[in-house]
Amino acid sequence: MNITIVGTGYVGLVSGACFSEMGSTVTCVDVDEQKIENLKKGILPIYEPGLENLVIENHKEGLLRFTTSLESAAQECDVFFIAVGTPPDEDGSADLQYVLQVARNIGRVINSYTVIVDKSTVPVGTADKVKKVVQESLDKRGSDLEFDVVSNPEFLKEGAAVNDFLSPDRIIVGCDSPRAIKLMKRLYAPFSRNRDKLITMKVRDAEMTKYAVNSMLATKISFMNEMATICERLGVDVENVRKGIGSDQRIGYSFIYPGCGYGGSCFPKDVNALIRTSRDMGVEPHVLASVARRNSLQKEVLGNKIKERFGNDLCGKIFCIWGLSFKPGTDDMREAPAIVLINELVAAGATVHAYDPVAMTQAVGEFSPSFFQENRLRLFKTPYDALVDTDALVLVTEWKTFRQPAFQAMAKVMRQQILFDGRNLYDPGEVQEHGFEYHGIGRNFGGNLSGA
Ligand SMILES: NC(=O)c1ccc[n+]([C@@H]2O[C@H](COP(=O)([O-])OP(=O)(O)OC[C@H]3O[C@@H](n4cnc5c(N)ncnc54)[C@H](O)[C@@H]3O)[C@@H](O)[C@H]2O)c1
Repeated sequence: MNITIVGTGYVGLVSGACFSEMGSTVTCVDVDEQKIENLKKGILPIYEPGLENLVIENHKEGLLRFTTSLESAAQECDVFFIAVGTPPDEDGSADLQYVLQVARNIGRVINSYTVIVDKSTVPVGTADKVKKVVQESLDKRGSDLEFDVVSNPEFLKEGAAVNDFLSPDRIIVGCDSPRAIKLMKRLYAPFSRNRDKLITMKVRDAEMTKYAVNSMLATKISFMNEMATICERLGVDVENVRKGIGSDQRIGYSFIYPGCGYGGSCFPKDVNALIRTSRDMGVEPHVLASVARRNSLQKEVLGNKIKERFGNDLCGKIFCIWGLSFKPGTDDMREAPAIVLINELVAAGATVHAYDPVAMTQAVGEFSPSFFQENRLRLFKTPYDALVDTDALVLVTEWKTFRQPAFQAMAKVMRQQILFDGRNLYDPGEVQEHGFEYHGIGRNFGGNLSGA
């Protein structure tokens, strides 16, 4: 099958690489010329485990191509995917300008019956808007070509995106046209071999499903963060509570880790977009509004704990931050809790030493250049170099490489042995045995050390 994917970011590139891996011929289109030139040379714009190999091998085989020209990609194309960004608008709603611009351009270049698939996360009703602008472009050409618009939201997780795409839990296809459904079934058949994973529904139902999934996951996280805050006041260890509730099969262990807030390009923007949609429909989204509010507060938790311990004036203090990306396995720093924390620490007069296994290049663009010029924020090549002469270590992103650090060696190079564990990654007892003062999220472990 011949596929064109417009938007070669996290979703577009992973989808393109995985479709080509299954034998389809894929053309990835993007407006970013540098990105496309780099991809042709095998230089990837993002870090995603397993992706580089798929891209390079399938590009070599001629199954995966890159271009900035939608027109050239449209030759003999069976299906177009729209995978461009839908960033938040000022009022929280999803900004559809890129999606609709692509739809308009597709209407200008198609030359036979085509299926146009919305893969970007878009509010309910967007497929109708896409249909309208494609039709307008065709009308301008005086063309009576037929096309269908399908909603096929993407559920991949950054850090595990390739595996998620190759072995999805389910494939949601929102579509009213039997002809388009037939094509989508054929397209996804290689990803559905052990059981039929494709669930068809109406377009609007599919659009809503994506928002409901992300809102549900964000709700679990914010719920647990709220439990952690209550536990802290009550003298209860939230980690024991987590194990206690996770073992209930109706709840499960996933997405109930207390921490310093969720980030990324999806949860914050999708929860806010659904809040906006809901209000536009005259429904006050009480749960969703609380989920978003709790998360904003949670991103401030580490900064507050540090100030409680050291005072509001942090002049002269140096903090070491481990982990900058919004979660392990990705270099994506969009809405990362580390951004809130570092801005807060620097504003209070502190100096920050930071290390991340893959997000250092991204980090440079996330902070004011003055932070670097004035040496208020310094990035280090190893986690241990970043620790030298610091007053505390703050674990923000739970990369595997941070799981079992050499506490004894760390204690020797630090000015003070204090650890703020923003992901409850460490056993407080073990950390204390090495002479560290431990601060976690919702942890009360005196006399009942975890693991004891
Ligand atoms: N990142 C994720 O984990 C994830 C997961 C599921 C769904 N989504 C959704 O998928 C969509 C894309 O997300 P992303 O993270 O891949 O975004 P991204 O920012 O990484 O990539 C978007 C790409 O689209 C390109 N682009 C913008 N306008 C264009 C145009 N007119 N023509 C061609 N290319 C254009 C940009 O240059 C960029 O390369 C969003 O709606 C997002 O919510 C993202």
